[in-house]
Amino acid sequence: MKGNDAIISQILRRKRKRFWYFSLAIVFLVILAVVLPVAFVFSRRRHPKGLKSTVLVPLYIYPIPGAWEPLHEAIIARPNLNFTVIINPDSGPGSTRYPSSEYTSEVQRLNVYPNVRMMGYVRIGYAKRNLTEVLEDISTYSGWSVNPNATDQAVHGIFFDETPNEYTSEVSDYLKSINQAAKNAAGLLPARTIIHNPGSIPDARLTDADVDITVVFEASYQEYQEDSSSKALRARLASLPIDRSRVSCIMFSVRTGMSQGDRRSLADELSQHAEFLYLTDLSQNYYESFGPHWQDFIAAIPT
Ligand SMILES: *[C@@H]1O[C@H](CO)[C@@H](O)[C@H](O)[C@H]1NC(C)=O
Ligand SMILES: *[C@@H]1O[C@H](CO)[C@@H](O)[C@H](O)[C@H]1NC(C)=O
Ligand SMILES: *[C@@H]1O[C@H](CO)[C@@H](O)[C@H](O)[C@H]1NC(C)=O
Repeated sequence: MKGNDAIISQILRRKRKRFWYFSLAIVFLVILAVVLPVAFVFSRRRHPKGLKSTVLVPLYIYPIPGAWEPLHEAIIARPNLNFTVIINPDSGPGSTRYPSSEYTSEVQRLNVYPNVRMMGYVRIGYAKRNLTEVLEDISTYSGWSVNPNATDQAVHGIFFDETPNEYTSEVSDYLKSINQAAKNAAGLLPARTIIHNPGSIPDARLTDADVDITVVFEASYQEYQEDSSSKALRARLASLPIDRSRVSCIMFSVRTGMSQGDRRSLADELSQHAEFLYLTDLSQNYYESFGPHWQDFIAAIPT
């Protein structure tokens, strides 16, 4: 009997042990079931899903043969990503009726891609530049469409640089004049896109319906990240009165040593506020060459 008791109590002890293991496993599974979705939600909050975006490329590089090849490589590598490319022959279209033959042939080459739209650069000096000269620049770009030496050299719109962000009635009238001139320019291709670059969030009265895209941020990665200001900046970006389809962000001096995952996260985050994005790790003459991680930044833009 004694032997039997010992065996029974051993079996009971084993059963109890199994019961405890089983209970522990259940508790563990329950914890996982609760913790995983919460962790997922939190990680998604820190890393929102990227929204379909377009690259806005300030291409202020003179097209000596081969100079624009990195752009061609990017366009070919990502056929489903759209590129809006700003060309700038001479702080504007230059003083001649047509640009140099290098420009002519390179612009024609880019115009062949279905995912590329070309914009002509026009500087307006914060609405202080002589209005007649600005209108002449618009008209010069418009005239490219009838260059007898170039069948497909027209641009799709105008990128107005140095637009003011503070409202006055004079500024508003000035901007209305140049917008109208661009929308009426017969030689610009549809949709005769108008881009304004105040580089910061402008007074809402300056972003009327003619302004297709506004660059609301043109600054360094550090300015975006800096604790006190970045929270305020992000809040301001998040509460913009204009839809992201009309907003652009240009960021330079992005940390060169950043991982590709972090580049993606950054682009995904910016895409919440802006459909037109440009990121570069160059910290001077940002638009005059392709930075060391040019292709990586292109690869990071969400579509
Ligand atoms: C790219 O541009 C084309 C033509 O404007 C448009 O139909 C398409 O939806 C755009 N694609 C993306 C991913 O923005
Ligand atoms: C603006 O430029 C035009 C043409 O260059 C010139 O005739 C005109 O006097 C200028 N206007 C002002 C206010 O400087
Ligand atoms: C067209 O090209 C020819 C030959 O290169 C050149 O002589 C002529 O000036 C060009 N015309 C224009 C309008 O640029």
